[in-house]
Amino acid sequence: MARVRESPLYSKDKIAEVVAGTDLVALVRQFVDLKRTGNSYVGICPFHTEKTASFHVTPEKGVYHCFGCGAGGNALTFIMGMNKLSFPEAMEELARSAGVALPREKRSVDKDSGFNRQDFYDVMNRAAILYQNLLWAQPEPEAMTYLRSRGISLDLARSYQLGLSFNGWEYLRGALKKEGFDDLLLAEAGLTRARQTPGAGFYDVFRNRLMIPVCDPQGRAVAFAGRTLPSETNPEVAKYINSPSTAIYHKGNLLYGFHQARSHLRGAGLAFLVEGYFDLLSLVQAKVQNVVASMGTAVTQAQINLLRGQVKEVYLLFDGDAAGRKAASRALPYLLNVELDGKVITLPDGEDPDTFIRKRGSEGLYEVAEKAKDIIDYYIEGLLADCGPTLGGESRAIREARETLGHVPDLAKGELLRRKLAKKLNIDPNVLKVRPQSPPAKTPEKPVEVRDPAKTVTHIAQEILVLIIVHPELAKNLPALAPYWPQDASFPVYEALTAQFKESGQIAPEKIHLEENQEISSIISGALLSPRTKKPEDAAVIFNEMIISLKALAAKAEQMDKSQALKAAEKEGNEELVKTLAQEKAALPHPLMSKMKPQ
Ligand code: CTP
Ligand code: MN
Repeated sequence: MARVRESPLYSKDKIAEVVAGTDLVALVRQFVDLKRTGNSYVGICPFHTEKTASFHVTPEKGVYHCFGCGAGGNALTFIMGMNKLSFPEAMEELARSAGVALPREKRSVDKDSGFNRQDFYDVMNRAAILYQNLLWAQPEPEAMTYLRSRGISLDLARSYQLGLSFNGWEYLRGALKKEGFDDLLLAEAGLTRARQTPGAGFYDVFRNRLMIPVCDPQGRAVAFAGRTLPSETNPEVAKYINSPSTAIYHKGNLLYGFHQARSHLRGAGLAFLVEGYFDLLSLVQAKVQNVVASMGTAVTQAQINLLRGQVKEVYLLFDGDAAGRKAASRALPYLLNVELDGKVITLPDGEDPDTFIRKRGSEGLYEVAEKAKDIIDYYIEGLLADCGPTLGGESRAIREARETLGHVPDLAKGELLRRKLAKKLNIDPNVLKVRPQSPPAKTPEKPVEVRDPAKTVTHIAQEILVLIIVHPELAKNLPALAPYWPQDASFPVYEALTAQFKESGQIAPEKIHLEENQEISSIISGALLSPRTKKPEDAAVIFNEMIISLKALAAKAEQMDKSQALKAAEKEGNEELVKTLAQEKAALPHPLMSKMKPQ
């Protein structure tokens, strides 16, 4: 039964220390609006789309579990899933906030850049502070005057950590180098760029610009936008320079202002979604704080996903021009996919959210918001207006509608839109059925499925674990199951529970390392949060049946292993081995024996 295990990166104690030092509820709350009920908390699951809350967090047991989609685990698995982190990355992230020191030699590195994620957070943080200091250092710098001219108060500038980049080629580079940051890291982070001549060093990317840090949902600066100042008179110069994608920033994954807006979003239950940095800053200045910005690019599903779980409605507030209308329509499928209600606010001609709110204030905004159109109606009207009543126009409308529907993979969700569209376009809804990319190849009659006993044994083993966790009085049977337990993902859990039982006569499933295996993690978290529904005597009966199946399946699996080995040996012509294996196979108890005669 030798089992080769990879040597773990961190000791179990270290992992336990990090998990114990993390406030699970606070961590989850960065992403999910949790309501307290007794000893646990519930909210909308961040891992799947739902309208009623099935996501439970029980801090006392250190686990979360979604009874809708089955996702579950501990603090480490949560941050791995939410931020798409590897296990070592998740350890580093939680260890840092828990104040647990990790051995330096075990630091993970990003395969593209060769640096650790934390290096990126550190350098972006330092850069944000240096930019901020520059803005506040001069008594009346141009940037400050500019902010004033746009109606942005000093308080607001401070709370959004606005800054200024120096009007020179190597200011940031020099300052950060002095602090010990590597030239290559600065370049990888998009703060500097290598000069053309090889070996000639690096220069600052952002120079004499108003600096706007873009933060992740945890409030860490992960990117910058640098806006030109009025003194920049060259019309060729781009209004904004933006950070590239890096190990910690992926374009289109974040919403500007999300972390500052979060509590306001939850309070209001609705979000205003704007495009520009200045649109957002002007709304916040006018005390409309439940606002986030898409940062110019077409809205993405990832951005809309950030709003799910925070709000029920999204009010799109884009420019009144054709581009703005198009941008609003693009968001429709993404909103449908996560069951958020979308409304589109139409601004008077020539206005953008920034100019509008500065003229009319929040009152003016709420007035137009009241008249906002449902995004589906808005989309259809736009489609009809753009395509016109001609035959060519109609087929264009159908094409576009199909494309939009193609972004709504869920049939039930797309159905409403499809029917509405068909009605408005006056066509048969079937015409709008999205055709699959390529017709599915005709599959021949499915061959009779070869039942894989290993799969079933895995299933039974998991059910046994759940039953024991829900009915811990059954744990006394654990040690005797060792010869039958499958060598699958459940094995380490079996081993851990058995060891706990042998040591203390009790099991402590909440101490199991859930981060080691996603599948097992959700099974255990589910068991931990499941109520006892069976009477002890019923549980014992079910348990015995399961044990009988486990033993039978274990025997069958062994038979199959032997048969396979035997076949291989025969093929090889290894007579010696064939003989031994045949004898061994004959000596095995027949699977049915153990089924009929349980011990
Ligand atoms: N944008 C960008 N790069 C550009 C232009 C625009 O990244 N060259 C993005 C920015 O996120 C910007 C948004 O698109 O905030 C909207 O563009 P725009 O309305 O032109 O910018 P504002 O931020 O509103 O700036 P201003 O009002 O000063 O023109
Ligand atoms: Mn603007």
